[in-house]
Amino acid sequence: MTSRVRKAVVPAAGLGTRFLPASKAIPKEMIPVVDKPAIQYVVDEALAAGLDHVCLITNPGKEAMERHFAPAPDLEAALERKGDQARLDAVRETSSKGEIAFVNQGDPKGLGHAVGRAEEWVDGEPFAVLLGDDFLDADDYILDAMCRIQERTGGSVILLLEVPPHMIQMYGSVDPTSVAAVDLPGEGEVPDGLEIHRISRLNEKPAPGEEYSNLAVIGRYVFNPAVLDVLKTTPPGRGGEIQLTDAISTLASMPAEDGGGVYGVVFRGHRYDTGDKLEYLKAVVQLAAKRTDLGPDFTTWLQGFVSTRDNA
Ligand code: UTP
Repeated sequence: MTSRVRKAVVPAAGLGTRFLPASKAIPKEMIPVVDKPAIQYVVDEALAAGLDHVCLITNPGKEAMERHFAPAPDLEAALERKGDQARLDAVRETSSKGEIAFVNQGDPKGLGHAVGRAEEWVDGEPFAVLLGDDFLDADDYILDAMCRIQERTGGSVILLLEVPPHMIQMYGSVDPTSVAAVDLPGEGEVPDGLEIHRISRLNEKPAPGEEYSNLAVIGRYVFNPAVLDVLKTTPPGRGGEIQLTDAISTLASMPAEDGGGVYGVVFRGHRYDTGDKLEYLKAVVQLAAKRTDLGPDFTTWLQGFVSTRDNA
């Protein structure tokens, strides 16, 4: 059994071109989903898995993220004077979220490059990676289970989503072999009911016919720190970017004693991808409908809106 996972890296330094023009001056990870920026949902997910050391990878245009997680004494004093305890609690909550560090990526040369920038902060420990613009429904959190598999096997663990065959070209595709939790190498408890695969290779955004399966890599990973050495020798791949998927493919072919071995867990819950405009709109509607304070009024209005459009 390897050491317990306690660190999470959140890459959030990308250009966010799919969300222009909003992402010109505001990091796309700061665009609100109902009333919290996407990045806050992501950090909450890491904390819920017990990962209370979080490192955000940012770039110089994205200071708003640092301000979001810092105390705001003037605002807090103003809310205190007004006796607005609920909003004061909401503001304070963002600055009491574990220990949050910030590392600049510099040039956004790809997700693999962003993760590699965290090497010093990771300091040789196993660590999770959560993409800064997508998050899971709190009822379906799975990062904790992924950490248990990493701790038991000593390898790396990725989250997989079954997608319709025509959509796999938007993701990384994996070559999977199903494995029962009891047959995983190593010792230690792994929660029941998970669909686990041993992964032998991956390819990023495969051309039609070149996909290994329709199991897609989605934005949650738990790594053996060996990935950081692998990333140093990973050449730019698809789109000229250093692809995390390429480094994971190398890990999959490495022996366990060198930190190799990759396992995938299939996710069957709700996921929100806020980096894409249509998916973002769906996320806002679904999360607003679930809220106890907004949901009843919002869904009544939404039903009326949809039925008047249907009749128009
Ligand atoms: P995306 O590919 O969704 O982000 O990467 P992007 O490049 O910002 O988006 P588009 O395609 O131009 O709209 C997923 C996550 O990885 C981060 C992004 O900020 C996002 O949270 N990322 C991506 C980095 O931190 N650095 C990079 O070089 C690339």
